[in-house]
Amino acid sequence: MKAAVISDIHIDINHNEKEPVIDSLRKVLVQDMPEILIIAGDISNDYQKTLEFLKQTDRTVPTLFVPGNHDLWNIENQQQDTWKIYNALGNYQHNLCTQNYIINDEWVVCGECGWYDYSFADREFPIELIQEGSYMQRKWKDKDYIKWGKKDAEIFEIFYSKLEKKMNEVKDKKIIMVTHMLTHKEFTVRDHPMWKFFNAFLGSSRYGELIKKYDVKYSIMGHVHYRKELEEKGTRYICACLNYTNEWEGSISPYDQIKQTIKYINI
Ligand SMILES: [Fe+2]
Repeated sequence: MKAAVISDIHIDINHNEKEPVIDSLRKVLVQDMPEILIIAGDISNDYQKTLEFLKQTDRTVPTLFVPGNHDLWNIENQQQDTWKIYNALGNYQHNLCTQNYIINDEWVVCGECGWYDYSFADREFPIELIQEGSYMQRKWKDKDYIKWGKKDAEIFEIFYSKLEKKMNEVKDKKIIMVTHMLTHKEFTVRDHPMWKFFNAFLGSSRYGELIKKYDVKYSIMGHVHYRKELEEKGTRYICACLNYTNEWEGSISPYDQIKQTIKYINI
């Protein structure tokens, strides 16, 4: 079984009239023939565009998905309540927030958007300051475009429990865990003064407890715009972000960049 992994496709920011991202991705999938595609969030800044994109890739290969914070943003639509956006995305048949995806007797994919609990921030910052989301003249945009009606710590707990419940249901199988948020400190942004603060919004060290408890074989994530892998204590961590066009090195062709970014796991 061959599974393709990618995230942070950002189709609106990476809009390319001559070579649409969707066409490039489908071309790669047809050539490389994975049996499933896993997208770890941030397809677009509007859930309706995200759903349309998923409908198209799902026709090419079953596409498993968790939303990223951008997919939940309200900047391009009238939906102010983030829960309504989250639930609308939940209607997509292969949204892992709704149900696990059983690959076979041995393997299963479990997922959730996940959230941040500030545990990746430098300890020098008080919680109250992080909650405000502003530092060095920059503001974390989720503060403006996400309306959960609850604190980040509460949202983190809700998604953490949901994910654990789904993993517990299939604890006898080998688990591929998918979150948009980071599950390992190694993937946070290092040696950068501003990110000592903004790492707060990248994920949580507590996902490590779930990975250990359920002996997770793969932890797939996105969000941080790295293309990076790490193997630690029997778990392979994969971050395969397509990123923004202005972050691309070398070719500016979406096809070339997708080819360079997409990761395959063979199980
Ligand atoms: Fe993100």
